Amino acid sequence: MNFDRVDEIIDRYGADQANSLAVLQDIQREYNYLPREALVHAAGRLGMTTGEIYRLATFFSSFSLQPKGRFVCKVCLGTACHVLGGPRIVETLERELGIKPGETTADGKFSLEAVRCLGACALGPVVVVNEEPHAYMTPDKATRLIQRLSASAEGSDATGAVVASAVDETASA
Ligand code: FES
Repeated sequence: MNFDRVDEIIDRYGADQANSLAVLQDIQREYNYLPREALVHAAGRLGMTTGEIYRLATFFSSFSLQPKGRFVCKVCLGTACHVLGGPRIVETLERELGIKPGETTADGKFSLEAVRCLGACALGPVVVVNEEPHAYMTPDKATRLIQRLSASAEGSDATGAVVASAVDETASA
């Protein structure tokens, strides 16, 4: 593994254990998960043991030690979203993607996660794809969203454009 990007991240914050959380967040943003080699390298530079950095990485549920898909689809199953139809969105995405929550498609395009309240209960059911929220989700919208994301996965700049168009559709619904 090339550690140039990891070193750039550490240099940006400073090679100090106090910055370890911010460093891990940026490493995950860079790779979409926390590669083992990157953690070991970062631990050395931050003056931490491998055990210490693993404890930090496993303490927060937002960190993943497993590779994730290009599009991480989080479906809220908090109380409000559950009542508003969240489970039907999960069922739709399971069917469309052929995976269960916690899994990633074999082609590496999609990961599916069921999460608790995302703090936007009035907009439920809520789905977040990477960092982009999608409000008032329905099974039909979820199907169309997956179709667009899947089709766009070939393009290098697809994420922003496709998600933006999906948000537009949500807003106009
Ligand atoms: S329950 Fe889904 S955003 Fe709060």
